[in-house]
Amino acid sequence: MAQLLNEEDVRTARCGEFSAKDIGREVCVMGWAQRRRDLGSLIFIDLRDRSGILQLAFDDATEKAAFDTAFTVRSEYVLLCKGVIRARGEGAVNKNLPTGEIEVAARELRILSTSLTPPFAIEENSNVRPELRLQYRYLDLRRPDIQKNIIARSKITKIARDYYAENGFIDIETPDLIKPSPEGARDYIVPSRVHPGKFYALPQSPQLYKQLLMVAGFDRYFQIARCFRDEDLRADRQPEFTQIDVEMSFVRQDDVIAVTEGFLKRLWKEFLGVELQTPFLRMQYKECMERYGSDKPDLRFGFELKNISDIVKNTEFKVFAGALEAGGSVRAINVKGGAAWSRKEIDALVEFVKSYRAKGLAWTKMADGVVSSSFAKFLTDAENEEIAKRMDLCDGDLILVCADKDKVVFDSLGALRCHCAKKLGLCDPKDFKFMWVTDFPLFEYSEEEGRYTAMHHPFTMPNPEDLDKIESDPGATRAIAYDIVLNGTELGGGSIRIHDPDIQRRMFKALKLTDEEANEKFGYLIEAFRYGVPPHGGMAFGLDRLVTLALGLEDIRDVIAFPKVQNASELMTKAPGAADPKALEELGIAVIRSEDAE
Ligand code: AMO
Ligand code: AMP
Repeated sequence: MAQLLNEEDVRTARCGEFSAKDIGREVCVMGWAQRRRDLGSLIFIDLRDRSGILQLAFDDATEKAAFDTAFTVRSEYVLLCKGVIRARGEGAVNKNLPTGEIEVAARELRILSTSLTPPFAIEENSNVRPELRLQYRYLDLRRPDIQKNIIARSKITKIARDYYAENGFIDIETPDLIKPSPEGARDYIVPSRVHPGKFYALPQSPQLYKQLLMVAGFDRYFQIARCFRDEDLRADRQPEFTQIDVEMSFVRQDDVIAVTEGFLKRLWKEFLGVELQTPFLRMQYKECMERYGSDKPDLRFGFELKNISDIVKNTEFKVFAGALEAGGSVRAINVKGGAAWSRKEIDALVEFVKSYRAKGLAWTKMADGVVSSSFAKFLTDAENEEIAKRMDLCDGDLILVCADKDKVVFDSLGALRCHCAKKLGLCDPKDFKFMWVTDFPLFEYSEEEGRYTAMHHPFTMPNPEDLDKIESDPGATRAIAYDIVLNGTELGGGSIRIHDPDIQRRMFKALKLTDEEANEKFGYLIEAFRYGVPPHGGMAFGLDRLVTLALGLEDIRDVIAFPKVQNASELMTKAPGAADPKALEELGIAVIRSEDAE
């Protein structure tokens, strides 16, 4: 039977908040039983809450009723205990515990509620199947390490609110039921009851609303905004996630960057006690791709890409020649320390790049002065020497070469350099290497759609130097768009927006939107911009990613209270589920294909 609290049952403080200076104090504590130890005439119970653990002691001096109750306590029972804080006996002091010098000499013990045996022990770092943890997430969330993450998230959110509010940003909520958007990743759709056959979408971001808030004159806006994207999940992606979303009027790229750096500086100082050096490194997208094969490079290690196409341009080696003939390139990285890897380990690297569509990976290594190679025999001595020179081949090095279309080479070697660095233990999570990637392309070509699409979104301002290329050479047009990158993760991104109707029209045209389509989709924005739109720009952080990296973690699920798994379901509630047929009827919706039927 669960027990109610009486008027005099007032919790003195949380378990972990007591210390030796409380010795002699009458207390009332409440929490969960972590474990019970019976030593005959002595019983100890570790009482736990979100602040830590406090030991309750029951002995000869304890009233019989309390002692007998203590004897029935099992793991995860919820208890109320009254007694006096006293020093632990000699030899019983636990230096590992903040409350390790004290205990409660229990006088009264009540079981507020009982518990089934939990499916896993509630303790730090316990090795439990992730599915089981998520199915019993409320128990998983009792574990101190996960609880610490969730509390840290709350602190980080508060620092963000404080910083932006203190800098003149106004916190404004934008709607979650919006018009379905035509661009970007897939929308989550919500049917309308009042308008049968019509749908809302859940926002992928507050993008257009925040721009309208600039038209409305709010000047500096921010919001901790929930965003929804029906895309494939990864370790750093959830279908619903949170952004720290920011927009500013009368600004240029440098202004947005300065405000953002100010926030990160303050966050790292307040939260981690780390003094970040600003301004952060800035690198243009193009240089980034050439050097790191990625637009979110990890700068904690080297292994930069080098183009060796010119060295092998006349080679007869089909693998290299074929890639060059097809307009691709031959590039390589030098993994210092990789020469020690076995043949099997190198074969595994070849398999690794195949998931990035590389057809293979050629290698050369020098171990104890001896050079061996998978491709040297196909090249001339001069070519081999040139490659060794360009790649600065030294003892202990492993050179990995990929020949293919640029995109495949960049994807493969970009991922490979991170994979190798991880394998060599070069990725210290406490080493924070921030950088800005700037000058992104305005468009990217979509093979699937046979047209250019906006790389960021259709409202991103082209670089004024490239305006004439919008029509003549869309692929070479740079955008005033920037990403903030930390240790190989894109933490956030933004841009200066178009506020010139003529440029906006040209942009839509380049995206192959007719005036009619543009009006149908974004008419309200185009209309709004006719009424005095300030120059504006902004950005958004992925809050989940920010918290994950600040805590030195890898998986964003560890900082989300109730995350979804790979197939976008939630294991505790089993969402998504079938809808009530009556509700569907009212919405005018018929299900023509369902998972259950399949
Ligand atoms: P963007 O699409 O780059 O820009 O998103 C901004 C940041 O949000 C985070 N993010 C995600 N985090 C977790 N799960 C996801 N599925 C996910 N998708 C994105 C990333 C990313 O950098 N409106 C623009 C911003 C702007 O231009 O102001 C936008 O949404 O950390
Ligand atoms: P092959 O002639 O197919 O035996 O390949 C010779 C070497 O080139 C092997 O080490 C292959 O792994 C490597 N190789 C094959 N395709 C590629 C590629 N696209 N890029 C780099 N190396 C490759």
